[in-house]
Amino acid sequence: MSKQPIGDPAPIDGSIPSESLRMFTTSERGFSAYVHVPFCTVRCGYCDFNTYTATELRGFSRTDWAGAIIKEIEFSNEVLFSTQNGFDADELSKSGTDVGNEWQHPLQSVFFGGGTPSLIPAADIAKVISTLARTFGLEPEAEVTLEANPDTVSAEYLQTLVTAGVNRISIGMQSAVPHVLATLDRTHNPENVRIAVDLAKATGLETSVDLIYGAPGESLGDWKQTVQEAIALETNHISAYALIVEEGTKLHRQIRRGEFQPPSDDLQAEMYEYLDAELTQAGFSWYEISNWAKTPKHRSKHNIAYWQGDDWWGYGPGAHSHIAGVRWWNVKHPAAWSERLSNNLSPALQREVLSEEQIYEEGLLLRSRLIDGLELADIKPEAHPAVSELVSEGLLTKEIISEKAQTGEKETTGERLVLTLTGRLLADTVILRLLT
Ligand SMILES: C[S@@+](CC[C@H](N)C(=O)[O-])C[C@H]1O[C@@H](n2cnc3c(N)ncnc32)[C@H](O)[C@@H]1O
Ligand code: SF4
Repeated sequence: MSKQPIGDPAPIDGSIPSESLRMFTTSERGFSAYVHVPFCTVRCGYCDFNTYTATELRGFSRTDWAGAIIKEIEFSNEVLFSTQNGFDADELSKSGTDVGNEWQHPLQSVFFGGGTPSLIPAADIAKVISTLARTFGLEPEAEVTLEANPDTVSAEYLQTLVTAGVNRISIGMQSAVPHVLATLDRTHNPENVRIAVDLAKATGLETSVDLIYGAPGESLGDWKQTVQEAIALETNHISAYALIVEEGTKLHRQIRRGEFQPPSDDLQAEMYEYLDAELTQAGFSWYEISNWAKTPKHRSKHNIAYWQGDDWWGYGPGAHSHIAGVRWWNVKHPAAWSERLSNNLSPALQREVLSEEQIYEEGLLLRSRLIDGLELADIKPEAHPAVSELVSEGLLTKEIISEKAQTGEKETTGERLVLTLTGRLLADTVILRLLT
């Protein structure tokens, strides 16, 4: 969640090693933008995301947000495309790669996450989208998602978002059961979820809901009610996360004081199995451990971009970015983030340049979570005995892939490893065994 890893100090001019910049510029990988909105009306007791209530903003105001995001977009354009920043445009154009204004990789997805993005006026969201589109371009089918709290949307708001280019909305439902919502400190009225989903559909938006399972005091019966109500909303996408008790949260303190019992692993596993069976029955399929969609077309491009290790720039306080094996994360407080941008300095706090070994391990970790799984050929030979054991224990399935090579003459075959239902429940163990 919002805990920041430990890295090296990030260069104050935001520069990226020239080899990574070259890989980014010449690669076929998709490019995405994450835009962080660090505001919430109240903080939910379980949440440790980088978000601030009005009293915690210390002089920064929500009205400053869009202007500072636009500054970071301009800054990212300088870092990624200025010829001062490490790559030789002449050399690249000789190799047939267009650069700068001829940028060949427009954004495949934009995700406004939070915090509570729906607290931002639609006109400010529109300004950010048009700056991204002008700077990088948007693919014709680009996915543009905004996370919304069910209490903060109206027909007019949604219509302005659609006009601005938003085409998908992800609504924080979490639970349909009042006592579970109360434990989670969620203030929304559960009836507003149906209203928000219906309004969004009427506006032409793709819809998704987020659920959380395993809250203290939540029974299997409570969860069944939530799952059935979520299915009845007839969205094309559902995300469901096992509740994580994050250190430093109010929920963590409540559990430490004995006011609440911690979530039980066995009950959370039972809840996951119930959810997967019911969603499958209702026409959904899993495509990532915590995500289900009605058809492949409804899978979130932005989610998939993260799991397949694409490139993305994370805009906003505390946001994380990944460009060709370089990862960095911004300073967390909105006032500090925006001050750096005002002085034309990088808002990044620290960064990591991943080694070959880290890129391999991270690739395995991320891709193993997806329905497309891992190709056996991409797994180091020394891990093949572990693969055989995991297959015989029923945690992975082996599928044969067969593709005609482009000439149409040669057939290339391979083996793909995909998590089984039990494997999805024990994904951390599976990956640990593949990496040791
Ligand atoms: C950070 S929120 C942002 C969206 C919006 N503010 C909301 O709460 O619906 C994104 C999602 O993260 C999930 N989430 C946040 N904290 C979590 C935790 N401790 N354990 C599991 N899921 C969590 C929730 O399902 C939430 O919908
Ligand atoms: S509304 Fe969302 S981001 Fe805000 S505190 Fe609650 S879970 Fe976290």
